[in-house]
Amino acid sequence: MDNDYLFEVVELEKKYRIEGGLFKKKYFYAVNKVSFNIYRNEIVGLVGESGSGKSTIGRLLLKLIDKTNGKILFEGKDIYSFDKQEEKLFRKKTSIIFQDPRSSLNPRMKIYQILEEPLIVHKVKKKFRDEIIKQSIINSGLDISFLDRYPSDLSGGQRQRVAIARAIVLNPEFIVADEPTSALDVSTQLQIIKLIERLKEERALSVLFISHDLNVVGNISDRIIVLYRGKIMEQGRTKDILTSPLHPYTKMLIASLPVNHPKDRGKKELPKEVFRKDVEGGCVFYHRCPYGEDKCKTEPPIKNLKNREVYCHFA
Ligand SMILES: Nc1ncnc2c1ncn2[C@@H]1O[C@H](COP(=O)(O)OP(=O)(O)O)[C@@H](O)[C@H]1O
Ligand SMILES: [Mg+2]
Repeated sequence: MDNDYLFEVVELEKKYRIEGGLFKKKYFYAVNKVSFNIYRNEIVGLVGESGSGKSTIGRLLLKLIDKTNGKILFEGKDIYSFDKQEEKLFRKKTSIIFQDPRSSLNPRMKIYQILEEPLIVHKVKKKFRDEIIKQSIINSGLDISFLDRYPSDLSGGQRQRVAIARAIVLNPEFIVADEPTSALDVSTQLQIIKLIERLKEERALSVLFISHDLNVVGNISDRIIVLYRGKIMEQGRTKDILTSPLHPYTKMLIASLPVNHPKDRGKKELPKEVFRKDVEGGCVFYHRCPYGEDKCKTEPPIKNLKNREVYCHFA
């Protein structure tokens, strides 16, 4: 292989049926012709407002739901062409952390059993399990006394550490972290981000880190993908996106961040957001875009710059 891609995603689409439309079925695209790559040992941040399709992309990559169109290659192979053995290995090499560990951890199981379950599913021999379970809990920043407790005995941050311990117990290559810090207070958020960063370094993990919060994503990611209504607006290296956003939507997101440095205050002037009637086809951001012109009613061009992709006429 001439690249180090873990995932290659090409024009991925997922459509859902819309309620109503009694006589003619109506659909909308939750994910609309989305293309990106994930390299080995990197954290890719996927940011966008609620309903923009972030979780759907995460679930598609893990093959938890079926795609409508497009391609997903994992280690060079189409995940829809896996045979049984490859499918099993894929399940072992990938995992997910959810926003709310309260609902993702079985309240009737002790932490030990919670961590043992994936090992049993993947037929790890009993004599190895104990050591792996202890290593995972320690790696996640808790001590082994937690193994004897129930999820309800733990704080939100501790529960999220258990969820992370479970996600790494099979030593995966890829993790989807779907808003893993959104239910936590700010100082706990930071600890969980540090933990995920450390695990990425130690285990050469790749992570798709999903959040509606550009601040959080900017903190942890090597690269960022900005999503709006199922479409990528812009993607590139974190530093480039944060310091020189090119897409009007990214600019708006960054301008709305709390300003950290007093000397930067007032620098980020933006033309006012407008609200137009939605148009069929064309740029999905047209209805809010300060720069919108008639040409935006057709598909925006993809502008390829160095390590950067922007979907806009005005970039
Ligand atoms: N199973 C489903 N059936 C119908 N619509 C869905 C389903 N899952 C998600 N959606 C819709 O797809 C869009 C994207 O959802 P989602 O990926 O959860 O967004 P995000 O994670 O960015 O908040 C939303 O409008 C949501 O209502
Ligand atoms: Mg979501």
